[in-house]
Amino acid sequence: MSHPAVGSRQMRCGQRDDSTISDSTISDEHEGQHMQIAVAGGTGLLGRLVVAAAADAGHTTVVLSRSTGTDLMTGSGLTAALQGSAAVIDVSNISTLSAKKSINFFATTTGNLLEAGRQAGVAHHIAVSIVGVDRVDYGYYLGKRRQEELLLAGDRPATVLRATQFHEFAQQLLDRFPGPVALVPAMLSQPIAAREVAQALVALVGDAPGGLVPELAGPEELEMTDMVRRVLRSQGSRRRVLKLRLPGAVGRQMATGGLLPTGPGPRGTQTFQDWLATSGMP
Ligand SMILES: NC(=O)c1ccc[n+]([C@@H]2O[C@H](COP(=O)([O-])OP(=O)(O)OC[C@H]3O[C@@H](n4cnc5c(N)ncnc54)[C@H](OP(=O)(O)O)[C@@H]3O)[C@@H](O)[C@H]2O)c1
Repeated sequence: MSHPAVGSRQMRCGQRDDSTISDSTISDEHEGQHMQIAVAGGTGLLGRLVVAAAADAGHTTVVLSRSTGTDLMTGSGLTAALQGSAAVIDVSNISTLSAKKSINFFATTTGNLLEAGRQAGVAHHIAVSIVGVDRVDYGYYLGKRRQEELLLAGDRPATVLRATQFHEFAQQLLDRFPGPVALVPAMLSQPIAAREVAQALVALVGDAPGGLVPELAGPEELEMTDMVRRVLRSQGSRRRVLKLRLPGAVGRQMATGGLLPTGPGPRGTQTFQDWLATSGMP
């Protein structure tokens, strides 16, 4: 079965579009609709790619991050920073395993963005979430779940796009847990290149706010330990990988498909192997 490719504008719940739409089509569709977009977390892994994808589509961007002078946790100066932006794409993040810290971060930053957006007249709040956050009670995911709730239950025009783990996630895991042995959770995923997620988020800017839209995933299912081993091999690293099954229901769900998409939806086309070969990783 084929699936709509990343960038398809027909990503609304309940709709199908089996045509493949190329990157150039995405740009064409947005011709004449060039906007200013605020990218919350625009200096991060995904954020930089969102900024690049927005530029490719002819939009201008305003980056909101602490390193560019905006702290989403305090919200100070946020309304002024959002002036003139037609849409916000929120790809900000906190790296934590703690449910409390995650909920505090995503509830506070999302609340501040929504309120400042109201005051600044932002017409569309778009946020990235993660496939499976509604099913798997992993501490970090509880913050993402709260973020989704605030966006979807509020009165602001919003779209939430859940994506699977990025191809880049394997390296993020290695960076987070340094040492001679890499501890990697047993996790079945259908990973996608972050670049394709960025393109899909930017494509949503031209659509009407759609609430929770169909889940975005990559082209194939992979085990996270396999991905990490392939990254290490491509780097000539001799680091060992130890597969770690997280305890309880969370570990079982992660290992057995709780993070896989449950229905049809847009699919990225770049395989992990192709991404590894072309990503320029050391
Ligand atoms: N990694 C994956 O596999 C994956 C999969 C699906 C969805 N996602 C989602 O994708 C999003 C982005 O993830 P990522 O890995 O690209 O994140 P990242 O590289 O950790 O980037 C985080 C961004 O948030 C900004 N930020 C953090 N705290 C801030 C604050 N208080 N105020 C303003 N900006 C702040 C950071 O900039 P400063 O440090 O300068 O503030 C940075 O630009 C997350 O929401 C994540 O849940 C990730």
